[in-house]
Amino acid sequence: MMAKETLVLGIESSCDECSATVVRHQSGVPVEVLSLATYSQIGLHRPYGGVVPEIASRNHLETVNHMIDQALTEAGVSTAEVDVIAVTNRPGLAGALLVGISAAKAMAYALNKPLIPVHHLEGHASSIFLKGSNLLQPDQLPLPLLVAIVSGGHTNLYTFKTLPELWPPDLLKRSLVGRSRDDAAGEAFDKTAKTLGFPYPGGVWIDKTAKSGNPEVFKLPRALPQKATLDFSFSGLKTAVVLETQKLKAAGTLEERLPDLCASIQEAIVDALLTKIYLAIRMHGCRALAVVGGVAANSRLRERLQAEWAAYGLKHEPIFPKLEYCSDNAAMVGAAGAFRYRQGQFIRGTDLLTLNAIPNPEV
Ligand code: KG4
Ligand code: ZN
Repeated sequence: MMAKETLVLGIESSCDECSATVVRHQSGVPVEVLSLATYSQIGLHRPYGGVVPEIASRNHLETVNHMIDQALTEAGVSTAEVDVIAVTNRPGLAGALLVGISAAKAMAYALNKPLIPVHHLEGHASSIFLKGSNLLQPDQLPLPLLVAIVSGGHTNLYTFKTLPELWPPDLLKRSLVGRSRDDAAGEAFDKTAKTLGFPYPGGVWIDKTAKSGNPEVFKLPRALPQKATLDFSFSGLKTAVVLETQKLKAAGTLEERLPDLCASIQEAIVDALLTKIYLAIRMHGCRALAVVGGVAANSRLRERLQAEWAAYGLKHEPIFPKLEYCSDNAAMVGAAGAFRYRQGQFIRGTDLLTLNAIPNPEV
């Protein structure tokens, strides 16, 4: 007998994207995205060179109901037909998280639906199970799976030993094997881009500008190359780029050297990521690799992994989410919610009223 299908309303408001979705899940993978409505606040924060928390939460408040309405309308699903509501409740900006959580709580309580609090990073990890990734069949996912979450806030390596419907409640805590000691990879892209004068967020500008550059021109540091650790560090790179930029500005050649400098920065970040990914695969006997989060959209990272994965001892090419599910979105939260729902991990009734934001969970 076919498992009953579940319709999940997902909400994400942890940082600067206000996003709602309806996803459909039968069992196993993939999860189908029926609708996805996202308002990106990037333009609002750009004049400040980064996300301003107060502006983020106020804007979420103005936007969240519209995104939910749009997601339901586009999916052709009524509130009564929704089986479960999933919302990011950790980690993130406290005020921003609270807006999504309050909307989700109000709906779940009023409609008497189950509510699932989702860890943002479990959301990113779930993005490879959304239709449109290059994961075609679950049997392409021999375990353990190494999951590299590379975003603006995190650079974390996890080894997952089960498929999502069996993920333990403390999945992230028990499977973390490496993390950045300072800046995240996305932050390294954004901060060095800012030094070069690109608008926020600069990752995509470095990616574009690097296309006509030579990555070997500037010798930039790759931190923590020693064998034993799976941790990352990007602060040395940031300093090196500040110094290099000062020299080029003094010589009046920054403009013409930008492509080479961008290509060299990108190569340094990608090298650092690949060195530890490769080491993690060997140290933990991983048989598959997934790369998720905003930086998973980087063209050089994808290109190099495409060229090198067989040498890592993997049987299948690395799994990437569809481009639109790399950066923050509610669809990944809906998918994570669907998997947790299958395991009966939800709250409802008066219990759900106590759900709160956890800006900085332990893991
Ligand atoms: O996952 P995400 O949307 O937000 C967080 O959870 O942090 O990731 C955003 C990050 C930003 O740092 C952005 O610059 C970076 O992803 N990013 C990229 C590219 N596209 C987005 N970095 C490098 N190359 C790209 N093409
Ligand atoms: Zn994210």
